[in-house]
Amino acid sequence: MMSEEPWHYNAYMQRLISRIEQGGVNPMNMQVFCNLQSLAKALQCLERSQSVGQVVMTQPSVLSLKPQSDYVLSGGMGAHAIAIAQYLMEEGAKSITLLSKTGRPSPSVGGLWQSLHDSSVQLHAIPCDIAMMDDVHALGCQLRSRETEIAGLFHLAETTNDAIVPIVVRDHLERSFSTTVWGARHLNLLQHAGATPWDFSMLVSSASSLLMAAGQASNATACAALDGHARYWKKAGERVMSVQWSSWKDDVGMVDICLHPTSKSNVAVQLGMAAMAGCLQSLQIPRPLTMVVGPLPWGSFLKRKQ
Ligand SMILES: NC(=O)c1ccc[n+]([C@@H]2O[C@H](COP(=O)([O-])OP(=O)(O)OC[C@H]3O[C@@H](n4cnc5c(N)ncnc54)[C@H](OP(=O)(O)O)[C@@H]3O)[C@@H](O)[C@H]2O)c1
Repeated sequence: MMSEEPWHYNAYMQRLISRIEQGGVNPMNMQVFCNLQSLAKALQCLERSQSVGQVVMTQPSVLSLKPQSDYVLSGGMGAHAIAIAQYLMEEGAKSITLLSKTGRPSPSVGGLWQSLHDSSVQLHAIPCDIAMMDDVHALGCQLRSRETEIAGLFHLAETTNDAIVPIVVRDHLERSFSTTVWGARHLNLLQHAGATPWDFSMLVSSASSLLMAAGQASNATACAALDGHARYWKKAGERVMSVQWSSWKDDVGMVDICLHPTSKSNVAVQLGMAAMAGCLQSLQIPRPLTMVVGPLPWGSFLKRKQ
């Protein structure tokens, strides 16, 4: 019922919540065990039938999200962003804003969008070209009118238009910079334009800015500039970091899409989310930090460079 008729399920849950609020339901006896370390104790409790009612294991959110706040993702209708949005939802986020040029999910996202859409999380899919300051300004007004605090920004939007170094022209660079770099700057300005500051920003860069991939010359340049902005903003006291991702692939069943099926250096999506959690925790570190997430096949990489 949860997956096929979520509206029925949600209606039952609403009725149940109001009955609980009115004191019409007595909670079951519960024995709570915190953290996975106490798993053995919980199982022993079940085995010895020491408990009447429920035995509950709790595991705190690794991301320490603020459930009452909103999380904004630029490039939010792309495959990478939807995977992050799903992870945020699993970790307790209740409100997520997805920004994209068209306001429609990218074809690569497939069924994953529908499952996110049908979930209990409040999704705001907003068409906003972040390369255009006017669009971002209108977005700022919309966010302020909602009066929901924004807890974090994930900047993932990118415009793909690339070539190998010898044939890169100004137009390639302008397009890549317009979304990756100028888009990030426009969004950052929102914080200073009043009333919409957020706790942290994660700028999604690419491992190509470190290792360079053939055919990604302008994207690598834009990502390197994005990494530079992260350092600058961090030095100015903001909680920001850039993360250079290599390609992602799902081989653990978390999402039903293979993001870059042809890449040899794919990171399983679940592993990528664990790495992202680690990156968010390292936001506490005061000095500027750029993280690289991805497997590095040093043997074949160095062979290519010889
Ligand atoms: N997927 C991977 O394996 C991988 C690996 C390394 C790094 N990354 C990084 O992750 C990010 C997202 O990758 P992806 O594969 O998820 O991309 P994607 O599926 O192509 O999605 C890109 C998203 O960005 C939006 N967008 C493009 N230009 C925009 C603009 N000017 N304003 C607002 N939204 C805009 C698109 O919206 P419309 O469709 O409406 O135009 C779309 O929702 C990129 O920064 C990429 O460098 C991804």
